Amino acid sequence: MNLSVQLAPKNKHGLLLANPVITASGTFGYGTEYSHMFDIQKLGAIVCKGTTLEPRDGNPQPRLAETSCGLLNSIGLQNIGVKALIKEKAPIWASWRVPVIVNIAGETIADYAQLAGELDGVAGISAIEVNISCPNVKAGGTEFGTNPESAAEVTVAVKTATSLPVLVKLTPNTSDIAKIARAVAEAGADAISLINTLKGIAIDIARRRPLLGNVTGGLSGPAIKPVALYMVYEVAGAVDVPVIGCGGITTANDAIEFIMAGASAIQVGTASFTNPRAPLDVLEGIEQFMKQEGIDNLTDLIGVARR
Ligand code: SIN
Repeated sequence: MNLSVQLAPKNKHGLLLANPVITASGTFGYGTEYSHMFDIQKLGAIVCKGTTLEPRDGNPQPRLAETSCGLLNSIGLQNIGVKALIKEKAPIWASWRVPVIVNIAGETIADYAQLAGELDGVAGISAIEVNISCPNVKAGGTEFGTNPESAAEVTVAVKTATSLPVLVKLTPNTSDIAKIARAVAEAGADAISLINTLKGIAIDIARRRPLLGNVTGGLSGPAIKPVALYMVYEVAGAVDVPVIGCGGITTANDAIEFIMAGASAIQVGTASFTNPRAPLDVLEGIEQFMKQEGIDNLTDLIGVARR
């Protein structure tokens, strides 16, 4: 069986994955944290935590709240900063078979361009995922991701600064996600990933105050899967670049739904918190489904529900 997918067909380096299962940014650390739990080299790709120019401590605690079938987070892009990532993490990734994609987040368009420039040509880094969708920061994030013009501007700036394949990660917290997707695809994005979290809130009734230190957070997990699937379906019909589906994917069946809706690959996120092996379980389940159904090429499944 052939599960490989090309996520950057127009890019000179390309982004060829052995299979469509990717770990979502912010849910799998730098990959190293999970490498003793299962053979992470079997995965299609790993996306690391959102990375900024300078290290960040993140938002005040509490930063997590469990909800029915979901998780609210307000981490605030806590990360080690791009310099430490290049010095400490990239050399480890360079020895891995699984490609690593670096998720980047900036407060200004110049930040995104500088980050992309610093990552360009670094051994161990296979692509960049541009985060214009974090709902938990005051500057940057959804500020760029909810406006087609600024989303396109960020994309152009990143593409100009790097020859690496560029994925742009979209927010669902917008009225017309297909419009944003078209804008970033026209601006040169090699692929589009969606969705990031849905903005939400929880109240601590004993304290009569918002539960999260930052008041609002981003909702992920099974609760958002139908919304994410709908948006992937919409976006896959609106652009001609590969689409990567994300949002509540917990099982192989979830992943297959996204692929049938038009996703060329999928990201497993929150599921890893309850089952660290979830990405591998999803991959094995996809293989089993293909075997049962007599499907030799994963690409034959992409978008079948749209025809
Ligand atoms: C966070 O760090 O607050 C979450 C990251 C994101 O939503 O992109």
